[in-house]
Amino acid sequence: MINEYFEIANYYDNLLTSGYFDYDFLSKTLHNLLGARRKVLDIGVGTGLLTEKMLSLANYNIVGVDFSPRMLEIAKKRLAISDVRLICQDIIKFETEEKFEAIVSTGGVICIVEEDGEYRIFSHITNPEKNKQLLAKLHSHLDEGGLLALGIQRPHTKYKKEIKDKIFYEQKIKKEGNYLDKWYVFSQANGEILSEQFCRFYFFDGLHTAKVLTDAGFQQGYQIIDDKFVVSYKE
Ligand SMILES: C[S@@+](CC[C@H](N)C(=O)[O-])C[C@H]1O[C@@H](n2cnc3c(N)ncnc32)[C@H](O)[C@@H]1O
Repeated sequence: MINEYFEIANYYDNLLTSGYFDYDFLSKTLHNLLGARRKVLDIGVGTGLLTEKMLSLANYNIVGVDFSPRMLEIAKKRLAISDVRLICQDIIKFETEEKFEAIVSTGGVICIVEEDGEYRIFSHITNPEKNKQLLAKLHSHLDEGGLLALGIQRPHTKYKKEIKDKIFYEQKIKKEGNYLDKWYVFSQANGEILSEQFCRFYFFDGLHTAKVLTDAGFQQGYQIIDDKFVVSYKE
């Protein structure tokens, strides 16, 4: 399935903990932002790197959804002693009667990229209408006063660098219209490729990002927290 993190699951934690994301900072920022809110839905929970850090800060009640069994396998091991609920499902098909006080995503199903002076929603879901439906659904799963916190990333660029365990990571990018194609390539020092993954993202420009959030029911005017999260509150 497109954008299911399958091939790179074995190298994902190595990359993400080699400076890609700072989960200590992200979890502390969320902890401050969430205040007394404890019931959290993580959309695209991946291997549970954020969840683990959040649980070290407070007794959160977290539901993590992801459609990659390989990523969730790692998350299950990481979070074995917690009571996190991990659900293997496409977020588009995810239905629940439950309400949450916060919905979070750090590079998960949707995130924000700050680019050309704009905050843009980038999504693993490549159909714009489905993204609008997803935002409306997420809004409906929030309690009154609930919030949606989308992690902010720098623009995707092309680069290659050494990460942990003498593995090299190369990122290739192609942008066309409102689509961004990204290749993650892991290799050894001798150039032998260990794993590759292709992802396609759809993005909304800055104006449309604000509009799709308000159209979904969120309050007008999102907040930027610590330069790390775009936060929208339920109307
Ligand atoms: C870049 S990873 C981020 C994982 C995690 N949030 C983190 O901070 O490490 C993106 C995750 O989103 C998941 N994902 C992408 N599209 C999805 C969808 N439609 N439904 C559920 N999960 C999805 C992928 O399987 C992957 O695990």
